[in-house]
Amino acid sequence: QAQNTASLVIQPKSDHTISRHIYGHFSEHLGRCIYDGFWVDPALNVQKKDRIRLDVVDALKKIHIPNLRWPGGCFADEYHWRDGIGPREQRPKMVNTNWGGVIEDNSFGTHEFLELCELLGCEPYVSANVGSGTVEEMAKWVEYLNFDGISPMSAIRKQNGHEAPWKVSFWGVGNESWGCGGNMTPAFYADQYRRYATYARNYPGAPLKKIVSGANDFDFNWTETIMKQVPLHQMWGVSLHYYTVPLTWGNKGSATSFSEQEYFTTMKKCLAMDSLVIKHAAIMDKYDPKKRVALVVDEWGIWTNVEPGTNPGFLYQQNSLRDALIAGTTLNIFNNHSDRVRMAELAQTVNVLQALILTDKEKMLLTPTYHIFDLYKVHHDAQYLPVQLNSPAYTSGKEQIPAVNVSASLDSTGVVHISLVNLNPTQKITVSTSLQEVKWKTVSGQILTSGKVTDVNTFDQPNKIHIEKFNGAKKQGDQLVAELPPASVVVLELK
Ligand code: AHR
Repeated sequence: QAQNTASLVIQPKSDHTISRHIYGHFSEHLGRCIYDGFWVDPALNVQKKDRIRLDVVDALKKIHIPNLRWPGGCFADEYHWRDGIGPREQRPKMVNTNWGGVIEDNSFGTHEFLELCELLGCEPYVSANVGSGTVEEMAKWVEYLNFDGISPMSAIRKQNGHEAPWKVSFWGVGNESWGCGGNMTPAFYADQYRRYATYARNYPGAPLKKIVSGANDFDFNWTETIMKQVPLHQMWGVSLHYYTVPLTWGNKGSATSFSEQEYFTTMKKCLAMDSLVIKHAAIMDKYDPKKRVALVVDEWGIWTNVEPGTNPGFLYQQNSLRDALIAGTTLNIFNNHSDRVRMAELAQTVNVLQALILTDKEKMLLTPTYHIFDLYKVHHDAQYLPVQLNSPAYTSGKEQIPAVNVSASLDSTGVVHISLVNLNPTQKITVSTSLQEVKWKTVSGQILTSGKVTDVNTFDQPNKIHIEKFNGAKKQGDQLVAELPPASVVVLELK
């Protein structure tokens, strides 16, 4: 393969769609995600519904956010839902032991979260407490949320102002149960899961999609044990968490200042998601060859050091073009494994880790990562199209990674979308695509790029990195030829 050319073949059909739930998000009671992100001071001079910030809501509606995971994360296994209902002034205050030791006043609870999901037009994904909660507590939360008849929990819900049940379906049974969620062994957790899941009832018209707390990155034994010990009918999905950490967990590296060598290592670690998904899915295939159970990557993204001068427990980091390339690449990986990966959530939506949105008092900015979700929304629920790619290498010293990655889909109106990422920060790459049986006449496109992979959007320059029209693709005979600038994400539309 020549150094700056790639070849691509796209098949005209497949047997499944790319679930829009792959494009989900995560909001934890952590730092400034919920408080001062979604849920703001009543005195803040922005448009609000109750205390929910509406410019944030509007931005997420624009990218068709399909689901939102809440209340954690590690926070979920210390969260007692009954502290977060009823009159706000009577709700108990607690310490957020996981994240900065700050006071949690419980002003954002079940009703507020479901109001937020209604405003966003997305499905709630509730992550329930197994680590320090009881079976009864979880069972009652499901009853409070989902039961329409006469019962103690539905009576309290009505008393708190919500007559009809919300009918929440996505239900996480614990989070990181191998770590902050209880430090359990996989065999012990699998038994606990069976017990908790038994009493998390399917009420009429509200069947649950129960999600098992899954493995930490390369812990294949966790997935194996879960698949062996939990009956298939008791789970809708099994989760997986994987973060791209540029350096080490002790010193993760800066979000904005890094060398090309560090950039290369980061992208190599990002691409490890592909082999992780393949290996966990292969274990699942042994026990579930019909792929009834989804692999749910409900925490992913880049995790760097916090911005200098900010609370280390708040995980506030800037977001560069590098982050956008990570998002584009990871979403391509999920699309290409969408037979098994049917749900995923980026960590986290506002002001935490690989955020889509950053806020500073009244100001708000959309990060480069946000723009990737905007570009890729064309893949939501579209038919997956298999791709074969021959990519040139991007080399650093003796190491190599594929410079280009891609995924493709066919939407319900017959339009094909191809999302291409060029990870090489200095070389443009020409991609020639053969689409033998795909019918198309015209091509148009959009691009996200910038001069340097360290470039960011700031509150002073919020639109430095933004989506632009892409004019670098054309039809040459039967071939589609596109020239990808260095460090760019391009989405093509073929009609
Ligand atoms: O997203 C931040 C934290 O990372 C979550 O609370 C936890 O589940 C994971 O370790």
